[in-house]
Amino acid sequence: MTIHWDAAAREWHLENGRMSYAMRVLENGWLSHLHGGAPLRPGASLRHLGPAEFPGFTNRVGEPVAFEVPVPGIGDFRVPGLLVGSPDGSTVLDLRYDGHRILAGKPELAGLPSTYVENDDEAETLEIDLRDATAGLRVVVRTTLFADRPVVARSLSIHNEGDSVLTLRCAMSAVLDLPDARWQLVTLSGQWARERHVHERPLLPGRQGVGSVRGASGHEHNPFLALRRPETTEDHGEALGVSLVYSANFLAEAEVEPFGTTRVRIGIHPDGFVWRLEPGTHFTTPEAILAWSDTGLGGLSEALHELFRDRLASGSWRDRVRPIVLNSWEATYFDFDHDRLVAIASQAKQLGVELFVLDDGWFGRRDRDDSSLGDWVVDRRKLPGGLEALVRDIRALGLSFGLWIEPEMVSPDSDLYRAHPDWAIGVPGRALTESRQQLVLDMARAEVVDHLTEMLSAVLASAPIEYVKWDMNRNITEPWSASLPADRQGEFHHRYILGVYELYRRLTERFPDVLFESCAGGGGRFDPGLLAFAPQVWTSDDTDAVERTRIQWGTSIAYPPSSMAAHVSAVPNHQTGRITPLFTRAAVAMFGVFGYELDPTAMTDAERAEVAGEVAWYLPRRELLQRGRFLRLRSPFAADGNETAWMVASGDGGHAIVGHFRTLARPGPVRDRLRLRSLDPAATYRIRCWTDGFGEPIGTIERAGDELMSVGLGIEPPDPMPAGAEPDGARLIRGDFQARLFELVRS
Ligand code: DGJ
Repeated sequence: MTIHWDAAAREWHLENGRMSYAMRVLENGWLSHLHGGAPLRPGASLRHLGPAEFPGFTNRVGEPVAFEVPVPGIGDFRVPGLLVGSPDGSTVLDLRYDGHRILAGKPELAGLPSTYVENDDEAETLEIDLRDATAGLRVVVRTTLFADRPVVARSLSIHNEGDSVLTLRCAMSAVLDLPDARWQLVTLSGQWARERHVHERPLLPGRQGVGSVRGASGHEHNPFLALRRPETTEDHGEALGVSLVYSANFLAEAEVEPFGTTRVRIGIHPDGFVWRLEPGTHFTTPEAILAWSDTGLGGLSEALHELFRDRLASGSWRDRVRPIVLNSWEATYFDFDHDRLVAIASQAKQLGVELFVLDDGWFGRRDRDDSSLGDWVVDRRKLPGGLEALVRDIRALGLSFGLWIEPEMVSPDSDLYRAHPDWAIGVPGRALTESRQQLVLDMARAEVVDHLTEMLSAVLASAPIEYVKWDMNRNITEPWSASLPADRQGEFHHRYILGVYELYRRLTERFPDVLFESCAGGGGRFDPGLLAFAPQVWTSDDTDAVERTRIQWGTSIAYPPSSMAAHVSAVPNHQTGRITPLFTRAAVAMFGVFGYELDPTAMTDAERAEVAGEVAWYLPRRELLQRGRFLRLRSPFAADGNETAWMVASGDGGHAIVGHFRTLARPGPVRDRLRLRSLDPAATYRIRCWTDGFGEPIGTIERAGDELMSVGLGIEPPDPMPAGAEPDGARLIRGDFQARLFELVRS
């Protein structure tokens, strides 16, 4: 991996054999983009990929020159990367090259979560200085190329070196100017209980994209977009992805202009964002990640999975397999006491569960969702012995203990609100909009973050709590902070999330052995910003197995299985009313961080035995399922959408597990083959299949790796049955919501 600088040509080429990123200084000193994507040989100039010569826009206005930090007002009429107001009210900028540095490794972004390296030889960073002398503005364009990853990280630091206040009105983390528009735009969008569905459309002239102005990344859109060629599939063809390591308002969009080029930009949403940049201060944008693949969307996902799992997630749980939890929420909601919880935990332990999580309802007087948020003091009516006694009794069963919190919120009916009504976000003189009967604490205020640090530290220190589920159940209205003067209110949302990050940083540092799981009404803040602190996320409140195939498929476009908490819940499902087989519910959930969200004391003996079988099946395969290479095979978002198939494979291809899920039964059988990936073509695999229970497999066959990847694995009878042992094929094809799991082991 090297960053090449050709001083004569004033050109950089960052290349590592897996990806190239090239820029040059134009004749007039502006920073131009040459290439971002396929790996190119170093040694020759790439200047011909941009304009032959560019002395400025005079007589060429509107020409789609590729820029790294496009600014308005000088002849580029596309969406800007940077918009800065000068004291005279103008937003014209003229950013000229003013030097650069090549650094080993990757510098930290103070106060912001970011990807990182453990050794300086894992990455190289190029910092280019751009300067507008009139405004007194310096922009440091920071680009990191990781060794052996097709990934670049980008952020800007914007310094006011002049004497006057500047106003930052748009500060994108990254802009990528592409020479054509022959792309499909892929976004992960939805709403509560159906997060991160895959949406695709061809790029069209004009602007298109996704964003959030909710104060959180949101259920609706993920801070991510991908571009794929129309012919790109899961395993072939070109794809580009951009992702933002950020959890608040964001914009991710593509603009196609009349010449047919595409400008992609990602960063803090400019709507409502105004940052007062005092002389002598600077603003650092969140980090954008750009990943490239010529092995389809699958290759793109793999690059992001590995980066997010290994060099974004941090802390003692990063590399560890995660415990099987049983979460109390769908088991009891708010209706529990000490004995009921211990009874549930006791049954859970017998089934093989490892960690019991007490969800909402343990504090204040919270019998419904209308009170007590902010009062993080145990409710002695429900838990007379406090958390200490409960945790002691749970641990005596041989289980670890985890606890739900929702630190950023306050109920109007709470002691905290009565003591500090001004700590709730709102504009003085205006009504407060409640949502789920709660308000949001002003995390932009240092005293709020300090208070929460101490209060929650006391809770976490009060008993051996080994897991925390950090929830966030509403978005922000009436954004305004008493800590900010009028001309700084445009900074509110960013300062809010910096406060959240600060609280996460303090608590994860004080309690380094605690496993943090983030949550926001399910997956309403499933983003790389929070993954930096909490290596796993409650993927969705929707635990229905059919819905989960879509949610987990979409989530996997950008995020690894180790980040996706996935639980088996009771039927009829609490979100959809659907009744699916227990086997199917478990088979889907096993492709995430597996757990349960039900009351085992309410199950039949047969169901309990089945759950025990699931856990016993899962445990020896957990490392592979959580940390293996995840490959999507058959999409629930395809035109028919009746089937989903995916697999995980070990790094050496010697061990794999395939999941195949069918929503509605179809008469058949048809000869259907599923082409697998990432296997050893020269190997022979012993394949076992489970379809309605985790006991003895229903059959075992042997197949060659090359055949499995080119012809495919037969997924209808008589496969995977041994020849002559014609099975009860009917049970494989009759009934809705069926699943089957195949385990492949190299012989
Ligand atoms: C929303 C979460 O997504 C649920 O899992 C649960 O924790 C509830 N909040 C509790 O209020």
